[in-house]
Amino acid sequence: MENFTYHNPVKIVFGKGMIAELPKLVPAAARVLLTYGGGSIKRNGVYDQVAAALKGRTLTEFGGIEANPSYETLMRAVEQARRDGCDFLLAVGGGSVIDGTKFIAAALPWTAGDPWRILSEQAPVPAAVPLGVVLTLPATGSEMNSTAVVSRLATHEKLFFSNEQVYPKFSILDPETTYSLPPRQVANGIVDTFVHVTEQYLTFPVGAPLQERQAEAILSTLVEAAPKVVATPRDYEVRANLMWCATHGLNGIIGLGVPQDWATHMIGHELTAFYGLDHGQTLAVILPGVLRAEAVSKQAMLVQYGRRVWGLTGSDPAALAEAAIAKTEAFFEAVGVPTHLSAYGVNAGEAAEKIRARLAERGQAFGEHADITPDRVAAIIRSRA
Ligand code: NZQ
Ligand code: ZN
Repeated sequence: MENFTYHNPVKIVFGKGMIAELPKLVPAAARVLLTYGGGSIKRNGVYDQVAAALKGRTLTEFGGIEANPSYETLMRAVEQARRDGCDFLLAVGGGSVIDGTKFIAAALPWTAGDPWRILSEQAPVPAAVPLGVVLTLPATGSEMNSTAVVSRLATHEKLFFSNEQVYPKFSILDPETTYSLPPRQVANGIVDTFVHVTEQYLTFPVGAPLQERQAEAILSTLVEAAPKVVATPRDYEVRANLMWCATHGLNGIIGLGVPQDWATHMIGHELTAFYGLDHGQTLAVILPGVLRAEAVSKQAMLVQYGRRVWGLTGSDPAALAEAAIAKTEAFFEAVGVPTHLSAYGVNAGEAAEKIRARLAERGQAFGEHADITPDRVAAIIRSRA
């Protein structure tokens, strides 16, 4: 196992009715900016619960943070928050609202030029305004990590930053808030969580059986829950388990001391930047391609994954690895997220070339061995036509 340091300061407040805990979590004297997305929270009663809990507090609002939050929109929120003197941010929504709010939190006290540098140059973030979260979509794990992904519409870029200053102070996870999710977002969330796990698990063994089994536990729980959430969408237990799986997928624990891949995510972000696919959709398309391209270097873990998560039997490692990949692909299709670019109207050859050129210009290569070069990325994308 590799060395690691771990500190996760996010207070998790989990369960039905827990939005009522907000007055204990948000400092009494805070000037709060409540951030949200396109309005789902106003239709499903979450906004009303938050407003009731924080009645009498100093509160302003910024709505309209879009899926794949844009720098352009977020900078308007920064201006508004400065004008209103806000000193606490409360993100109410999915990963996009949370990520966008993390960027607002870092940009507010920022004095070193254009805050885009936080993303484009990974410029240090010396301070951030504190933020809290009410999660409404289990997927990204953003509620318990220090990462944010932001898009710039003008240049078709989608970049991330990670900084411990933007860990939420608390995150409220009420599974009942997820009853109103459209099936497409439920499916995206399952795929996103699944792929967060595979990015930290399907690499090569380093003698970390606990982390491996923790990863397998999340994957198996997702496989079990996926058909249930479709059959009985208002089943609290299923929603609760999906929510807790998503948080565990990317709160850092399963990735401690083990190699990590992230090629699927990095390629997926480019597909969203150029073609606007949902984050989960890009992952369903790209993961099988990455696994096949790396099937030899990942063989030991693919075989273990196939046996333990999918119950595969047999003794030929190459055949087991391919069967495990095929099972993964079939799972994403069954969940309702197509795994080929043609299903989204994207020309694979064109996408391959655009993304290859951009990655070559940036000098990027991905994967746990940093050997997925721009040319190999292009081949992976073409293989997903
Ligand atoms: O905007 P509203 O009206 O709220 O509607 C949203 C949005 O249209 C809707 N929604 C959310 N909760 C709902 C709901 N609709 C009904 N009922 C509810 N309870 O769902 C749509 C999608 O929301 P979004 O926040 O975009 O989805 P998600 O949580 O999947 O977040 C995706 C973003 O997170 C980034 C992705 O790249 C993408 O930009 N990621 C962030 C990560 C992180 N911070 O660690 C890691 C991930 O790998 C990922 O890259
Ligand atoms: Zn993701």
